[in-house]
Amino acid sequence: MPPPTRAATAWPRSSNPDVMALKTAKRGAVAPFIVMDVMRAAAEREASHGDVLHLEVGQPSTPAPRGVLEAAHRALDGQVLGYTLALGIPPLRAAIAAHYRQSYGLNLPADRIVVTTGSSGGFILSFLAAFDAGDRVAMASPGYPAYRNILQAVDVEPVLLPAGPDTRYQPTVAMLEAAQRETGRLAGLIVASPANPTGTMLSADELAELAAYCSTSGIRLISDEIYHGITYGSVAAATAARDDQAVVVNSFSKYYSMTGWRLGWMVVPESLLRAVECLAQNLFISPPSLSQHAAVAAFGCGEELDANVARYAANRALLLEALPRAGFDRLAPPDGAFYLYADVAHLTNDSRDFCKRVLAETGIAITPGVDFDPDQGHRTVRFSYAGSTSDMAEAAGRLEKWLK
Ligand SMILES: Cc1ncc(COP(=O)(O)O)c(C=O)c1O
Repeated sequence: MPPPTRAATAWPRSSNPDVMALKTAKRGAVAPFIVMDVMRAAAEREASHGDVLHLEVGQPSTPAPRGVLEAAHRALDGQVLGYTLALGIPPLRAAIAAHYRQSYGLNLPADRIVVTTGSSGGFILSFLAAFDAGDRVAMASPGYPAYRNILQAVDVEPVLLPAGPDTRYQPTVAMLEAAQRETGRLAGLIVASPANPTGTMLSADELAELAAYCSTSGIRLISDEIYHGITYGSVAAATAARDDQAVVVNSFSKYYSMTGWRLGWMVVPESLLRAVECLAQNLFISPPSLSQHAAVAAFGCGEELDANVARYAANRALLLEALPRAGFDRLAPPDGAFYLYADVAHLTNDSRDFCKRVLAETGIAITPGVDFDPDQGHRTVRFSYAGSTSDMAEAAGRLEKWLK
């Protein structure tokens, strides 16, 4: 016999004017991560037209490497996959420490490696452990939007350092000195090399100079190394070699092609370790267990992962040739990552509207610069070339036709 059905009750809503409206906290009123909104619009267009080329999101179009998938299958068959230690499973922490030895010649104790829920989890932990409400933390603008939005959500004030082509969109000691002179002491600096959205890098000397200034001025350096491994000339310099008080944030999302596995790591200074551990226990309990067991194999998958980087290099070369022909000829110098950041002031003064039109009229999803730079981003857009080379070629052709 079928179970008895119940009439659905309406979700209760108060229409009584005497009931006090409950507030939404100011901390919760952060800006949207606009690229996620563009992804939603692209999915709607995909459903209605089926022709979308995804150049909006910084996400490899490849799955996790074969070795990781095999390790995941083994873990599914043989493990309980319950909570793990809050700082991560010891074999993964040891594998990450070995990676620093092999790739950078750095001897970091595995105790200083903390496994996190993506680098996004690493930002939450490091910002809470290192900064107090009311502190001020600097970063280059344009930059990755979640830095300033997460800081705002934990009542820390982001200090945007306008950066342009003269400094390869990277912060400098002169900018930090000016910011401290003009608006007061900084508690932190966030750097990313290669950076999102520009793909530009700090040289080893520039990074060392920033690190030295931070350590003599009592500024905590947070270094986002998520695009290490995806470079097209020089190898990205390791922050941990230059400042042992810096927090290094990294992830399996990009080079390791594992965005949805939600796994990252940090290199944490001794003095912050216990705070990070207690925060991690309370906020996350542990990073995802299956992803951790699988990721131990990631460091043995270099060949497959470097083939992905070769594809990004081919995509980059293709777009660097084709986009200027289509009219996007003012590009930031892309040393690494998989982005091209274009000044489109000659085409629009409203990058959000421009990206909407590009999607509606060509089926190409790209991201408006306002996501990365609230002040100047109305005249910039970001192309992500993490997808397939055939998609890049098709996108370049459609854009060229569209702008003619
Ligand atoms: C510079 C930068 N840092 C961090 C992240 C967050 O990555 P995840 O949380 O997947 O590690 C991204 C994602 O696009 C990014 O571009």
